[in-house]
Amino acid sequence: MSNVYVFDHPLIQHKLSIIRDKSTGTKEFRELVEEVAMLMAYEITRDLPLREVEIETPVTMATCQVLEGKKIGLVPILRAGLGMVDGVLRLIPAAKVGHIGLYRDPETLKAINYYAKMPSDIGERELIVIDPMLATGASAAAAIQQIKNMGAKHIKFMCLISCPEGIAHLQEEHPDVDIYAAAVDERLDEKSYIIPGLGDAGDRLFGTK
Ligand code: URA
Repeated sequence: MSNVYVFDHPLIQHKLSIIRDKSTGTKEFRELVEEVAMLMAYEITRDLPLREVEIETPVTMATCQVLEGKKIGLVPILRAGLGMVDGVLRLIPAAKVGHIGLYRDPETLKAINYYAKMPSDIGERELIVIDPMLATGASAAAAIQQIKNMGAKHIKFMCLISCPEGIAHLQEEHPDVDIYAAAVDERLDEKSYIIPGLGDAGDRLFGTK
């Protein structure tokens, strides 16, 4: 699991437990998903390059560090990925946001891309593909393939909850993509829900079903 980073920070784990609880309502669920996404973004951006600048403080000149200005792009997978975007944008407000939509063909069970709108300079950006649940890995792998076809070169994948099946699938199809998760759960059930998971992330975020 060398390219999988699991964030065991107490704040993330505490908030994730409330997110998992079925009695947590839509408003609180949404707020907490956003908060966890923000905390995860803090860790995911740990390797952003810095450059030195000379600053005049009220008392003296000082050599300080600022972000080098690496271009970042967020790519939420519709629709549940949208729930994490604002949290990440709170820390990286200048990031551009592409969107990708997929559905599963009921006969072939393959993920079919129905929407993809990316920043025009996608190849120059450090992209973070976002989906709260890495379940079978089929959507994540198809979304990443789609944005690679559109020119993406540097891609990270960020989710709240992953599982061994999804991680193995993504690692096999895209070994170059690092995976960031708040948890690696036990397994998938027969309907491809993550166990214990949190249920349907999209439904819980948007109050549908
Ligand atoms: N998608 C979800 O929203 N939940 C799961 O458990 C699996 C996939």
